Amino acid sequence: MTTHSLKPIVHGIFDKATWTITYIVHHGMGSDCAIIDSVLDYDPKSGRTTTTSAAKVLDYVKEQQLKVAWILETHAHADHLSAASYLKKQLGAKIAIGEHITHVQKVFKAIFNLETEFKEDGSQFDHLFASDEEFKVGELVGKVLFVPGHTPACVAYQFGDAVFVGDTMFMPDVGTARCDFPGGDARTLYASTRKILSLPAETRLFMCHDYPPSDRPVAFETTVAEQNAKNIHVHDGMTEDQFVEMRTKRDATLEMPVLILPAVQINIRAGELPPQEANGVSYLKIPMNEL
Ligand SMILES: [Fe+2]
Repeated sequence: MTTHSLKPIVHGIFDKATWTITYIVHHGMGSDCAIIDSVLDYDPKSGRTTTTSAAKVLDYVKEQQLKVAWILETHAHADHLSAASYLKKQLGAKIAIGEHITHVQKVFKAIFNLETEFKEDGSQFDHLFASDEEFKVGELVGKVLFVPGHTPACVAYQFGDAVFVGDTMFMPDVGTARCDFPGGDARTLYASTRKILSLPAETRLFMCHDYPPSDRPVAFETTVAEQNAKNIHVHDGMTEDQFVEMRTKRDATLEMPVLILPAVQINIRAGELPPQEANGVSYLKIPMNEL
């Protein structure tokens, strides 16, 4: 059996406040693990962060006696703050993201007029993944799949028969992720969904979010076969042009995520706060329109 054929253990933790699922992928009690898409709790009313969600990750790691090899991000999220930096301080693991995060940093450095010292070279992260790069998590081999479209830097992570799809697609009855953020592109997302959905039918797919309709509980695991048969946006037979038309129309109706401004400013820094000002306090910015 090759390491690629291992069926890893996947533990998902759902965050009710942001509809995000953080995953811990490993191969048994006492093994190495990777944490994918962690959440730093943030109250936009007060600007306070808390670590209740991250504590659930730390509890599981401790309970399973895991050694954290990697803290992974599928992309710079716009709907929640990443706990990567906090977890790194607790665990000492390396933080990684796709190499095109540099494009995202460049765009948002301009939008937020960030300090000149802010580097748009990805150096806030310990490692930037290239397309199809492989990396080890104990006996597991992770493989990086570039899946741009929602953002230009989105990646999915494949471990054996499990793929963490990030914000490419959601559960079959919810569809796909929006493509109207800077650098997003519906045609590109369609190609990325085909890349994932051409994997073997039994491949397990793990969503980064779930927004369940009122008639079903939260769910975040499905398969390539189920998505091909039932995904309301990218099922078999949906053409690229049909998808692009649907996605573009739908995106025009969506409001900005509540946490997009704080989330982006923190997440392009790998979960670090902006540098403290002279009074020892970090501040986030809100770009205003002209009066
Ligand atoms: Fe996202």
